[in-house]
Amino acid sequence: MGPYFINIMSSPYLFLLPVFFSLFAYFYLRHAHRIPAGAMAISLNEQETGHAYDTTKIWTTLVSNRGYFGGLLVLNHSLRKTGSKYQLRVMVTRAVENDHEFMRAFAAAGIPTIVVDDIVPKPRENGKIKSGFWEKLAPWGLTEYERVVLLDSDQVILKNIDDMMEMEIPDGGIACAHVCACNPRKIPHYSKDWIPENCPFTAANQTTGEPVPITPESPEHHHLLNSGTVILQPSKKQFDTLIHTLNTHPDVPNMWLPDQELLAVVYRNRWRPLPYTYNALKPMRSCHANMWRDEDVRILHYILDKPWQSRYFDANDPVQSTHRLWWEFFAEVERDWLDGADDKKRALWENVVVPAVAQE
Ligand SMILES: *[C@@H]1O[C@H](CO)[C@@H](O)[C@H](O)[C@H]1NC(C)=O
Ligand SMILES: *[C@@H]1O[C@H](CO)[C@@H](O)[C@H](O)[C@H]1NC(C)=O
Repeated sequence: MGPYFINIMSSPYLFLLPVFFSLFAYFYLRHAHRIPAGAMAISLNEQETGHAYDTTKIWTTLVSNRGYFGGLLVLNHSLRKTGSKYQLRVMVTRAVENDHEFMRAFAAAGIPTIVVDDIVPKPRENGKIKSGFWEKLAPWGLTEYERVVLLDSDQVILKNIDDMMEMEIPDGGIACAHVCACNPRKIPHYSKDWIPENCPFTAANQTTGEPVPITPESPEHHHLLNSGTVILQPSKKQFDTLIHTLNTHPDVPNMWLPDQELLAVVYRNRWRPLPYTYNALKPMRSCHANMWRDEDVRILHYILDKPWQSRYFDANDPVQSTHRLWWEFFAEVERDWLDGADDKKRALWENVVVPAVAQE
C-alpha cells in the first residue's frame, strides 16, 4: 500500500488527478440536478444552461417599476415549472434600466431583459392621454423574433402553454381572449353597458369554454379583448400602425383601459378569440362559475387586487382563494433564491424582492 501510494504520487501521470476529480464532480452534479423536483419531468440542468430553449420565439412581459417584480418572479417560475421550452425575456423601460440595483436583480433571477424605449403619445388638443404603459406595444417592434407571446406579470401559468407558439393566428393579426364585461364588482368608471347579458363569455360554449366566434355582425362587446395574453408576430408595419393609431385615433383620449382598447380598434375583425383558459380572469371563477373549470385553466390572471399586496386572503371566497396558488409559487421562488445564495444575492432579495411583496 505504502510504496504503491508513493509510486502514484511520483508518477508522471499525476497531472491527470484533477481531471479525474473534475469529471467525477461533473457527472455527480449533473446527476444530482436531474433528480426531478416533485413530478416535473423536465431537466432543470438543461433549462438553466439555456441550451434547450428555442430562442426564435419568446414569452415577454413589461416591467416598468419594482412593484411588479414579485409577480415577474412567479410568472417566470411557473413557466419553467410547466416545462416550457421557450424563455421569458422581460421588457424593461429606460427608467428601470437606470435603476442599477433593480437590473442586478433581474440578472440574479436569471431573467434576460430587453430594454425598450418609452412610447409617449403625441399631445392632443381634445384631452389628455394616459401614459406610462404604452411600452406594452413594444413587442410588435421586436422583429428579430418570429413570434412573441405577451403576458402580464400578474399571471401564473398552471399548465404548459407552448402550443401558443405554434397556434395559427390571422394574417397580420393577433390572438387573445375576450374581455369579461360583467363588471361583478360594479366598478363605477367601467362602461354602464358592461353587464352579464352583454359579456362575450356569457355567449361562449358553457360546456367546452369555446369562445363565441367573432363576425362583422357580432354585438359590439364581442369585439373587445383583454390584453393580458396576446399572441403576435412582430412586424414593423403593424408596429407603425399601432403607433399611428395611438397618435391620431379620436377615441384614444377617452379610452379607460387604453392598451386593450387600442388593440381592439386596430385588430378589429383580425383577431382570433382564444378560450378563456388562456387568460382566466380571476373574477370569472365567480361570475362565470358555470363555464369555469379549475382543471382546464392554463393561465390564471390576477386582475384588480394583486396577491402580493397581502398575505391574507379569504380562503372561502371563490375569487380571493385563488391567491393561495400565487403564494405557493412564491414560497418556491424564495426557497430557490435563498438556497446557497451568497451575500450579494441575499441583499438583492432584501432590497428588491421583500419591499415588493407583502410581509403580512
Ligand atoms: C427564470 O427562468 C429561467 C429560464 O428562462 C431560469 O433559468 C431561472 O432560474 C428562472 N428564475 C427564477 C428566479 O425562477
Ligand atoms: C358546446 O359544445 C359541445 C361540444 O362541441 C356541443 O355538443 C354543444 O352543442 C355546444 N353548445 C352550444 C350551446 O353550442
